[in-house]
Amino acid sequence: MFYKKKHIISARHFSREDLITAFRKSDYIREMMTSSLGRRQLAETLKHSDGRPWRAKIMFDEPSTRTMESFLEACDTLGAKWRTNTNMKQTSSMAKGESLEDTVDMSALYGYDVLIFRHDGREKNAMRRAADTMEAYGHPTSIISAGEGNVEHPTQMVLDLYTVWREFGDEMEHGKLTYAFVGDIADSRTIHSDIIALRNFGGTVFTVSSRDNNLPKKILHYRGKSPVQLSVTKMESWEEIASEVDVWYFTRLQHERKSAPPNPEFEKQYITAYGVNDHFLSEIRRSAIIMHPLPRGGEISGKYPSLADSRIVYRKQVYNGWICRMALLSLLREARQ
Ligand code: NCD
Repeated sequence: MFYKKKHIISARHFSREDLITAFRKSDYIREMMTSSLGRRQLAETLKHSDGRPWRAKIMFDEPSTRTMESFLEACDTLGAKWRTNTNMKQTSSMAKGESLEDTVDMSALYGYDVLIFRHDGREKNAMRRAADTMEAYGHPTSIISAGEGNVEHPTQMVLDLYTVWREFGDEMEHGKLTYAFVGDIADSRTIHSDIIALRNFGGTVFTVSSRDNNLPKKILHYRGKSPVQLSVTKMESWEEIASEVDVWYFTRLQHERKSAPPNPEFEKQYITAYGVNDHFLSEIRRSAIIMHPLPRGGEISGKYPSLADSRIVYRKQVYNGWICRMALLSLLREARQ
């Protein structure tokens, strides 16, 4: 789970056991959240041994609704103090060309216990470099990736897989599920992290996307240490696999990662081919779930889609995001005892 025992920067560092530990911890926290005694106990989690609260810095250089809110809520619920800089690119010295190493070192020098960092990926290996900077200077500070360009989003992976685990439990653990990741596979960092981590459980994965939109090779060929089999097959449409899939995962077109400017005609075609519509809903299994990391574009349209079809579970993912981020922070606290 942890790089150098204290950073969460890639799904590659999560073993099967780590994931199940995170899921169980999430269930435990979910239960604690239901009583006021539980909430009071949770509020003591992120404390140093002398009682001082942990301090978290949220450093984002890309927009966010859920990832940021859920980390802030997680910090509040677990008794940590936090500060935010949600516009790093404009308001930090990154705008003057300061190196990533210097920027994160400065924050660590102010004594933060954890830097929750979102980076747009314009520089390579941003999370690894941030974590290595903490190691080089001997900072006790943990780096948590809150999303790195079109590379990875490991904490979203935990909440996505936890959502599947809660719905399908044993079947997931025994590699019996079929997953379809639909849409902009090339640039969706949440899908990248999810597929990396699914290697721990095995099963069947379909990526459903246009001919020239492919899973990056290093994710397709990643094997990790897991002995179980995960088959990954590319499809250009979902029709053929409609009756086989247990878990559907949609994503918006990641405009900000493309060199071409947004093209409304192309977007329309994307939504038609890789979006949820009545035909799709009538073809897929009754028992399937439909996930989305959000924000949604037209690929899941309508005002209240999850009220119209209970297979659409993205609102459960959002609550699980709060729970799982608390689980990860408390596991981090335990690992650093
Ligand atoms: C995603 C992200 O930022 O990668 N959102 C999220 O964190 N829940 C997905 C996206 O932006 O499309």
